[in-house]
Amino acid sequence: MNAVLQPAPTRTTAEWQAADSAHYLHPFTDFKSLASKGSRVITRADNIYLWDSEGVKILDAMSGLWCVNVGYGQQALIDAATAQLKQLPFYNSFFQTATPPAIELAELLAQVTPPQFNHVFFSGSGSEGNDTVVRMVRRYWDVLGQPERSVIISRKNAYHGSTVAGASLGGMSYMHAQGGLPIPGIVHMEQPFWFVHGQGKTRDEFGLEAARWLEAKILEVGADKVAAFIGEPIQGAGGVIVPPATYWPEIQRICDQYGILLVSDEVICGFGRTGNWWGCETMGFRPDLMTFAKGVTSGYIPLGGVMVGDRIARVMIDQGGEFEHGYTYSGHPVACAVALANIRLIQREGLVDRVRTDTGAYLAEHFKALAEHPLIGEAQSVGLMGALQIVKDKASGTCFDSALEVGMLCRGHCFANGLIMRAVGDRMIIAPPLVITRAQIDDMVELIRLCLDATLRDLQQRGLR
Ligand SMILES: Cc1ncc(COP(=O)(O)O)c(C=O)c1O
Repeated sequence: MNAVLQPAPTRTTAEWQAADSAHYLHPFTDFKSLASKGSRVITRADNIYLWDSEGVKILDAMSGLWCVNVGYGQQALIDAATAQLKQLPFYNSFFQTATPPAIELAELLAQVTPPQFNHVFFSGSGSEGNDTVVRMVRRYWDVLGQPERSVIISRKNAYHGSTVAGASLGGMSYMHAQGGLPIPGIVHMEQPFWFVHGQGKTRDEFGLEAARWLEAKILEVGADKVAAFIGEPIQGAGGVIVPPATYWPEIQRICDQYGILLVSDEVICGFGRTGNWWGCETMGFRPDLMTFAKGVTSGYIPLGGVMVGDRIARVMIDQGGEFEHGYTYSGHPVACAVALANIRLIQREGLVDRVRTDTGAYLAEHFKALAEHPLIGEAQSVGLMGALQIVKDKASGTCFDSALEVGMLCRGHCFANGLIMRAVGDRMIIAPPLVITRAQIDDMVELIRLCLDATLRDLQQRGLR
């Protein structure tokens, strides 16, 4: 890490907060409630650490928002952006033009993705990537003369973004409740969450059962109407829900049987997070399309896209004519230059192998130990993403009343103790940068334990434990 740390900005925290609440509407935020508290203002970062406007150092166990895979302050990415800004800050790829970084990135992505992927369509984010997926799978079946095949099956509690199509693909009921979602032609089935739906069965039995909900849904919709199935290899924003090993191979079998396109949303799982380049490799399936974003640039600059498998690419290229879809920033040259530097850094440093053979395994050992904590009913990790399920009663696996917001209580202790961990209900989740070392994992786990202890003490004081 050679980045020069900039001096702290000149305004005070109170001044930042006043301007923030006067003008800035934050995503997924209760505006009024935040205005009454004031934001925590993050002013700089290095490696796996952030500093706020009070100078407090924070261990970022969420990699920003699941994206800063190579850690903060990587000079190679900063240099790539600077050089490209000077050379050519923007040109589009609409009018039969292209830029060298976009072409080179397309070529490199074809090398680091599974063999069926040789083409990419760029977007500016994961949500836009999933909008592209909806347009592309429907266009594919149109071109093949089966326009009635337009329904896409997704899962409850999935997260596929916040645009109208992305949020419709997602299975978050609180998002659907605002703005008349989902749009027509997108249906949802239950998620493969063993802790909630599978107790009393072995994980493997439950994995097969949960995958066969797809077959039931296909038959309910009508096999000739289903275009595609989409899923995250491991649900991220839904709470790092790791499906049983039997789940994805059975999903693959069912998609193959009915000729349905299989879409892997790799926005979180891609670029090494699970210990392989792609989550589908870790979970054992072979998608026709893969959405990516976040880790492609380690979040240094926005970029997303869709890897298009040969089955679809051949039809779209040979028979499809013009695909009436694209974004101003598709293949943005600066974003693509940063992505190239980022992927080469991941390759040079062997980060994916390090996660699989070293740090991921080390984290898993620690998570096993955290499962012994009196508040934890289940601890799961794959590579460098993990979840701790807080429970009221360990023996029965009973959860706290959701109105108590125990996860938020724990998250408050994390914030107060210099650790960023996210709460999804009462599931505490982490996804630290892939550059995290064993010693830093030790520190992170010690902080997690301290925050769980503090949460337990609070609950005991309130007579809830
Ligand atoms: C699996 C998945 N898909 C899509 C998205 C949306 O990506 P973006 O926020 O870049 O639009 C996210 C964001 O967290 C995600 O986790």
